[in-house]
Amino acid sequence: MEALLCRNLGDPTVVPDSTATSALTIDKSHPIPQLNSPTGVRVRVKATSLNFANFLQIQGKYQEKYPLPFIPGSDFSGVVDSVGPQVTAFSVGDHVCGFISLGSFAQFVVIDQADLFRVPDGCDLVAAGGLPVAYGTSHVALDHRAHLSPGQVLLVLGAAGGVGIAAVQIGKVCGATVIAVARGDEKVCLLKSMGVDHVVDLSTGNITESVKGFLKAKKLRGVDVLYDPVGGKVTKESLKLLNWGAQILIIGFASGEVPVIPANIALVKNWTIHGLYWGSHKLNKPGVLEDSLNELLSWLAKGLITINVSHTFSLSQANLAFAAIRDRKVIGKVMIVFDDPKNVKSKL
Ligand SMILES: NC(=O)c1ccc[n+]([C@@H]2O[C@H](COP(=O)([O-])OP(=O)(O)OC[C@H]3O[C@@H](n4cnc5c(N)ncnc54)[C@H](OP(=O)(O)O)[C@@H]3O)[C@@H](O)[C@H]2O)c1
Repeated sequence: MEALLCRNLGDPTVVPDSTATSALTIDKSHPIPQLNSPTGVRVRVKATSLNFANFLQIQGKYQEKYPLPFIPGSDFSGVVDSVGPQVTAFSVGDHVCGFISLGSFAQFVVIDQADLFRVPDGCDLVAAGGLPVAYGTSHVALDHRAHLSPGQVLLVLGAAGGVGIAAVQIGKVCGATVIAVARGDEKVCLLKSMGVDHVVDLSTGNITESVKGFLKAKKLRGVDVLYDPVGGKVTKESLKLLNWGAQILIIGFASGEVPVIPANIALVKNWTIHGLYWGSHKLNKPGVLEDSLNELLSWLAKGLITINVSHTFSLSQANLAFAAIRDRKVIGKVMIVFDDPKNVKSKL
């Protein structure tokens, strides 16, 4: 099968195999993974999503390090290809999605049935591959941790990115007043079309002024929940907008800068600061992830959330997909899409 291998830590935006030291290589005859347990399921991958974490992993900048070479990629969608003898939940041909810690940038993955989810009928299979990590993270953060409730004010930073757009949509489903922060016309237009209550365009405005103006006009006191996948300067500015008793969800540092939240101000203002590492729930609280993804897939089926895929690439164009993330062009998700199964078969 075809798989993308990270053979050296380095820049994932460099064309695979273009030099002896390039980070990525396309392996066209990688062994197809075999079913390794009675409850194992092999999935022919239709699409896999690029997450910011993959970008960091290949550069060796992620919190977890992997021995080389490794196949990057975690969340995916596809079609069940074969099942172990004790698999009861899935049959060959089912449309599914799931996540693994590594290995989804490949034509096949093997996963236990307990970690696999059925994609509801009528849902776009490519888009479903972008749901687990981005929507899962935002849902666990907003619902399980912050218990976001109707009427609360939610401020989402990096709101047009993968986890950001998910947080915006989940915020609306929960009945919150949602304020989104993003950069540029295209992102702002899409966020407005999703019913966001107020959008701050960082290319033309300043968060504090813009949000204060909105809150005043709506007779709202301040922000109850801050969803922060960006860090740095925008976090510092956002702290000025938080209410007494606000909750801060620390999701990531896309800006490259870990923010400082003064403990004395957290004390005086009774803030709660939640650090959230979604993937670690798999080991520590797997039931939370399972319930969350089932709820999200039911919302997807009902049309309460939609996964915006702004870019799709083939595996051999993975460098372009990573460049789209680096250049902040992605709105929602960027996906690697595999060939139609009919075409794939002849290549195996
Ligand atoms: N804690 C967890 O379990 C978890 C799970 C998933 C993701 N994350 C983290 O969340 C962050 C976002 O992930 P994602 O997949 O949503 O990424 P993404 O799709 O690339 O979105 C990141 C957003 O951050 C904004 N941004 C601001 N400064 C940036 C910079 N210097 N470089 C790049 N983007 C910048 C961009 O918005 P504008 O261009 O509009 O400003 C961009 O839309 C990452 O740090 C990731 O590691 C954490």
